[in-house]
Amino acid sequence: MAEVKDYLIAPSILAADFARLGAEAEAVLAAGADMIHFDVMDNHYVPNLSVGPSVCAALRRYGIAADIDVHLMASPVDRLIPEFAEAGARWISFHPEATLHLDRTLQLVRDQGCRCALALNPATPLTVLDHVLDQLDMVLLMSVNPGFGGQSFIPYVFDKIRLLRSRIDALGKPIRLQVDGGVHLGNMEAIARAGADTFVAGSAIFKSDDYTETISKMRNILAASGGAPPE
Ligand code: DX5
Ligand code: ZN
Repeated sequence: MAEVKDYLIAPSILAADFARLGAEAEAVLAAGADMIHFDVMDNHYVPNLSVGPSVCAALRRYGIAADIDVHLMASPVDRLIPEFAEAGARWISFHPEATLHLDRTLQLVRDQGCRCALALNPATPLTVLDHVLDQLDMVLLMSVNPGFGGQSFIPYVFDKIRLLRSRIDALGKPIRLQVDGGVHLGNMEAIARAGADTFVAGSAIFKSDDYTETISKMRNILAASGGAPPE
């Protein structure tokens, strides 16, 4: 069985101080984060507006060298994918509802040399993965409805994480299982035990007083969780 060996912590910029975004990204990486989760909202697919490729490129110019994990909550997505690849995205996730031709859009992400992820809303069934799971580098399970930071984790997503974990394990490919929304120190252990290996956290990190302390606590929780083992 191919396994993803390490846990990744991905702070969501949505909760950062946008006026100091470069410094904020630098600070969470220095504090031990693995990659930057870059939430793109278009006021169409979701009822909120955030940032586009030029801001991603600005983070690269500022000197952020870690992976940038672009989460596209936008529709249509195809035009944005080459723009974000050019802007320095390493991972690109999009929602299946946001494209008319899912297979074509997956191909587009891969053709741009980016790691490819599908993002599933809480109520979007896992069956959307039936024919494409083996093409993915990661599945993002939303544990809140997309559009806003600071919402509460929806409990029924635990079942979905467990189910997806067993499907990924059965497939035997090193596909990451990312959970996004309402993740905090109090529920990370349960989320890891359910089978997640990649953790997006916005408010829990950026609204904390000490990023290093918060991320260290997260690492300790993950190390003790007995889920996917750290390398
Ligand atoms: C929600 C976004 C999330 C969110 C995470 O639409 O995709 O990345 O901002 O923020 P918290 O951790 O505050 O729920
Ligand atoms: Zn996100």
